[in-house]
Order: sequence, then C-alpha cells, then structure tokens
Amino acid sequence: MATLSSLARELVVGLMNAGLYFPEHARVKDSAGRICALLVELEREGHAFPLELGVAGQRVVYQGQPLFSASLFGGKLTAALAALGSGGLQFGARAEPRELIAVLCLLSAPPAGATGPEALNALLEAAQVASIRFLAPLVEAGGSAAANLWQELDDLRVVRLPVQLYQDFVDLLQTSAVRVVRNIEIEMDRVYALTRDVLRMLNEEPEPLLALARHGDADNYNLQHSIRVCLRVGLVARELVSDRDLLLRICQAALLHDVGKNLVAPEIINKPGRLLPDERREIEKHSEYGARILLEQPAPDPIAVTVAYSHHLRHDGTGYPKPPHGFRLHPISQLIQICDVYEALTAQRPYKPARSPQDALREMMRMRRQFHPRLFPFFVKCTGLYPVGTLLELGTGEIAQVRQGSHPPHRPRARILQDRRGRRRPLKECEEVQLELTDARAARRVTAVVDAPDLLEGLLAP
Ligand SMILES: [Fe+2]
Ligand SMILES: [Fe+2]
Repeated sequence: MATLSSLARELVVGLMNAGLYFPEHARVKDSAGRICALLVELEREGHAFPLELGVAGQRVVYQGQPLFSASLFGGKLTAALAALGSGGLQFGARAEPRELIAVLCLLSAPPAGATGPEALNALLEAAQVASIRFLAPLVEAGGSAAANLWQELDDLRVVRLPVQLYQDFVDLLQTSAVRVVRNIEIEMDRVYALTRDVLRMLNEEPEPLLALARHGDADNYNLQHSIRVCLRVGLVARELVSDRDLLLRICQAALLHDVGKNLVAPEIINKPGRLLPDERREIEKHSEYGARILLEQPAPDPIAVTVAYSHHLRHDGTGYPKPPHGFRLHPISQLIQICDVYEALTAQRPYKPARSPQDALREMMRMRRQFHPRLFPFFVKCTGLYPVGTLLELGTGEIAQVRQGSHPPHRPRARILQDRRGRRRPLKECEEVQLELTDARAARRVTAVVDAPDLLEGLLAP
C-alpha cells in the first residue's frame, strides 16, 4: 500500500541519488519513476490531488498534521526545502518522471540565488514542469510560538529532544552513505558528537529514544538497524566499561559496523525476497568493504575497523569473511555481534515478522555456541525479558513503557503512558508501577508488546 511516508522516503532517496549521479543516470530515473508510481497509487487510494506535502521545522506535514515516520526519516527533504525558502511541494497525480528529475536536481543542486517559491516555480516553468510546484512556507496555526520553540531547541543543540537526536542519527547515516559512495571522508567529528549525546541520553532518560528506535518502519530498515545496534550496544557496554572514551569508541564502532553495505548495490541490499548465492556473496563482502572504508579515514580507529571486519565471524569459527591465519576475535566485536543478531531477530523484514524479545533470546540460546561464552549471558541479564523502552499492553488495558534500572528482571518498573480509558498524561506526570511477570493472575500482567506510533507522535510536538 502506498503511504505518504513512503512518498517522503522516495523523495529523500531521489534527492540523494540526484546529488550523487547525473540526471540521466538509471538510479535517478528509477527514483523518479517510483515517485510517479506512488503518486498514481495515492490517488487511486483516495488521497485528494493536487497533493501537498509540507515541511515545518524538522517535520513533514500533511493537511496540517505532522507525519511521524516521514519526519523521522525525511530530514534531508525538510532541510533542502527550508534552504530554498519553500514550505513544501505540490504534486499532480500525473507528474512525469522527467518532471520529478527536474525537481530533484533543483533541490539537490539549486542554482545560485534561486530561493522562494516564486523564483523556484519560474525555473520549473522554464523547464516545462507543469505538474509540480514549490509551496510558500507554512504558517503554523495559532502563531509561530511552537515553531519558535522548536527552532530555539534546535539552535541550542544541547537540550535535544529524543526525536531531534533520532533525526540527527538518520541524517548522519544518510550523509555518510553518500560520502562513502563518493569516496569522501566520513564526518567522524559528527559521529563522535552524536554518540556522546546518545550516551548522555541513555544515562538520563533513555526510554523515549529507545521507543523511537523500536518504531517499525520497514522502508528504512538498514538505517534503523545501525541506530538500534548502537543504542543496544550503548546500554550493555556502559555496564561493562567505565572508561568514557572507550565507551564512546565502542558506540561509534557499533553505529558504523555495517558501513560497508553502502558499497553493495541497493538492489541487493533492499531485495525483499531470498537472495541468490551470488547476491549473498556480494552482501557478505560488506564486512571487508566496511573495514577498508574505515581504514581509509584520516585517523582510523582500530576498534571500528576490527568490528566492521569481524562482526559476522562467530565464536565457534563459523561466519564470514575467511580470516587470515592466526586472527583472534576481539571481545568488543563479539559484544557488538550479539547486539547485531538480537536487533536483526527483533526487527520486522518484508520476508519475516519481528520476533518478540523473549523469542529472540530463546533463539539466541539455541545458537549460543556462536557467541562469546561470558558476554552472551551478560547481555541476556542486561537486556531482560522486556528491554528498556518497550511498550507493553497490560491486562488492565493500560499501555506502559519499561523503564531502566528494573531489578529484579522479572519485576520491571514501568511508566503508564496511557490509562485504561485511553487517556494520556505528560511524561513527567505518568504513574510508575512495578510489573509482575510471573503472576498470570495479576491485573497488571503483560498481554502484548505493542508498537504504538500514535503514542510516540507526542514526542514530535515541541
Ligand atoms: Fe553486518
Ligand atoms: Fe548489522
């Protein structure tokens, strides 16, 4: 089914392709074609046309409402439109690929002085684009106080909302992908600053950020996977390592562990079905590609290089790539591997549903010979049956979020985000309770793990 989020995602991919390749390149044409097909589908599904996709601050907006997933992953689009002084795009349902290519090229490399919808639309007319128009900046209902607050928080860059931190994650990974393909250095100072902020948030109030990372969006799997592995590694490693600098380097290595996938053809990386043997071999090269990319940085970090190279090499000698004689697995790589497998099992993919945290741990128990014999039990103890940030439905009809510092693991502390009548309170006023996981008769027993994007949407509001 076509969604506005998938439209925003395709626009971001198109924008990145237009920045990487010349306009006649197959990847740019492909993106434009997919966007056109989505517009036709959206019209068929009853969306009003012309369709207006707006941007306000860091949010993607449709009919005055922020779109949650699109806002999380659409930072490149909001930034490009804001830089041009436009409040969004208006599409006709019959837009043609050549029109989309013109818009994507204009967005990714605007000619000097082309700002404001009038100037931009004049350029579109000159290029004979009739079905797409740039919109004037949106005026927020009820004045601009909300927008100002958002901007203020953004300017401070210190007091960051979880959602802004998450958007930064996405932007950093999308930008790194483009830089890797173009053989430009990765902005390691940004990686450092972001992991530092993430560790701070994990120590203070990690739940909203973790819940954002768990929010299912199959379209952005690869991005989300790197973020989730980094957060999971951060949660476990801080219990093991007291040296702050080492902890930061471990989190950076986790964030970049799959950086080599950027050199594997996206058609293979995003293939929804089973891979052919040749395709699997190509994907498996991502470990060596990643190590080479990180080794070529101006000040390569041996931890990041080792992790990229060996995170698919197992403790029992299985996995890939074939290591040189005498190669010894590093425990940091083995820790990141455990988190990598856990995150892959609990994620939803086009060819498999997400496993529950308990199921994932059960499966990992079965394959435990592949993991470091002391790190794996430590990971299980740290993660618990319901990891921090998980949203749970209770027998009472309430929805609760697991908090950190839950001991013993079978009695996690949780915060009631939504009461039995569906009412919500501000985060600071939410009641804290202790859940009974072993007592099936307890009123507040867990009935399901839920993905409640509408609860998370509150995080988008400034
Ligand atoms: Fe990998
Ligand atoms: Fe991975």
